[in-house]
Amino acid sequence: SQTLQDTLLSAIRTIPDYPKPGILFRDITTLLGDARAFRRAVDELVQPYAGAKIDKIAGIEARGFILGGAIAHQLSSGFIPIRKKGKLPHDTVRVAYSLEYGIDEMEMHRDAVQPGEKVILVDDLIATGGTAEGAVKLLGQMGTEIVAACFVIDLPDLGGRARLEALGVDVHTLIAFEGD
Ligand code: PRP
Ligand code: MG
Repeated sequence: SQTLQDTLLSAIRTIPDYPKPGILFRDITTLLGDARAFRRAVDELVQPYAGAKIDKIAGIEARGFILGGAIAHQLSSGFIPIRKKGKLPHDTVRVAYSLEYGIDEMEMHRDAVQPGEKVILVDDLIATGGTAEGAVKLLGQMGTEIVAACFVIDLPDLGGRARLEALGVDVHTLIAFEGD
């Protein structure tokens, strides 16, 4: 059967010069639209945690919602959304996080998790790690146990994996693109 790397490489579309000149955009919409590749990616992401009794999957808006929902279903866990500020209707905890240019804020519902719950953080891609670090801070503030942070794509040159590991978070990714 096809290797995981081959499956992912042929299912992820690369768009040069998007959103600006010199950037290679790694587009997972083609992976999500490919039934075999989507299932394979989700299967590989959940595999280490089968039987780990994960309480909640925390998905980061927006692409982390798609993968996180599928992962939550497969692990029989709850799903909680971490959203850009102003989108959630009830009491929230909020954190500022760094983007490539400037900062933004993300939040989650205060009652979305309980202290001591086991949580896995999910997003499609980790680049600088600013987004994931914000989510880790939110979940940490709420007293959860972050079992791992999972991503389909790692851009290791941008340092995000190392940044999360420095916070003591286990990072699980499926494919790395280096030299972008
Ligand atoms: C992208 C990607 C990750 C984040 C990674 O999201 O989906 O969430 O950037 O970058 P970082 O590791 O440097 O923080 P984006 O901010 O484009 O938003 P979207 O998912 O809502 O499209
Ligand atoms: Mg995103």
